[in-house]
Amino acid sequence: MTKVSILVSGANGQIGSVLTKALREKYGKDAVLATDIRMGNHDDGPFELLDILDAKQLSRLVRKYKINQIYHLAAILSETGEKHPRMAWDINTNGLFNVLEIAKERHMKLFFPSSIGVFGSHTPRVLTPQETIIHPETVYGISKAAGENWCQYYYLHYDVDVRSVRYPGIISYQSPPGGGTTDYAVDIYHKAVQGEDYECFLQEDTMLPMMYMDDAIKATLQLMEAPAEKVKIRTSYNLAAMSFTPAEITAEIQKYYPDFRVTYKPDFRQEIADSWPQTIDDHQATDDWGWHPDYDLKNMTSEMIRNLKAMLVK
Ligand code: NAD
Ligand code: SER
Repeated sequence: MTKVSILVSGANGQIGSVLTKALREKYGKDAVLATDIRMGNHDDGPFELLDILDAKQLSRLVRKYKINQIYHLAAILSETGEKHPRMAWDINTNGLFNVLEIAKERHMKLFFPSSIGVFGSHTPRVLTPQETIIHPETVYGISKAAGENWCQYYYLHYDVDVRSVRYPGIISYQSPPGGGTTDYAVDIYHKAVQGEDYECFLQEDTMLPMMYMDDAIKATLQLMEAPAEKVKIRTSYNLAAMSFTPAEITAEIQKYYPDFRVTYKPDFRQEIADSWPQTIDDHQATDDWGWHPDYDLKNMTSEMIRNLKAMLVK
């Protein structure tokens, strides 16, 4: 059997930093090359600077480390994307092309994270189906929807074993989120644990699909390990764990911090959130490769507060 040798792009980000650790625990620290456009803290294994738009450097690293799998996380998220649309399109789309091309040339396995951002206001917002109307209204969503289709194209025409999930908003304590509309659900825990009030940029009744980081990592590894014949969707799988509003997460946090107060000042991210689903139908992921989440709002809140207290409160 060929030895697994992985390159993670965007490894310094919210998901990349945790996923890189998980992959190193599974495959060994030297089997996983962390890369990012900026320096990061990866003392536990190899790290190289890589701008994903630099196809030559990508190719050089793939050869140097004999890479046979790529987890391509580098991207610009929804909030930043709306501020810098051309840059977001360039990095999200041309970065993916560079990865798809090298995956085709070297017969590599590839993970591409898509997002609930592919859906738009014409999509059914409750239990959004796997196959539905996809007319995204953010540059982020447009780039992810195009990315999903390019992934399927490379699978169909060049036999690239590309696998993908549409992550909901990811919530974690380990690393800060990077410019997304769902980031409020991370920031709110930080404020509560530090004894501060929180001003939320979404309305109190805005329901969005979310997922605890442990479940996101579990889903990613499970999909990548599934036998190829079980992976029937080669655009991207719907994936769900929980959905809640700012008012509901606040009420859950107040069970630990009764004096915690949240005020609401919606900004341009409200419009983005209003175009996204409230709940997701992910039965296809369950049927095809056995997906089941472990975390709901209650046990996620308990874990977030326990871990953030240990990190932030001296
Ligand atoms: P993040 O913003 O925290 O991290 C992205 C990383 O990419 C950063 O470390 C950044 O330095 C790096 N990067 C940016 N431009 C680059 C370039 N040109 N070359 C190389 N690296 C570059 O994002 P994240 O939350 O960790 O998301 C990872 C992936 O998962 C993204 O593709 C994102 O779209 C997807 N996703 C995330 C969420 C979420 O809630 N976090 C939800 C759905 C999908
Ligand atoms: N969490 C991401 C964002 O808000 C969704 O992909 O941009």
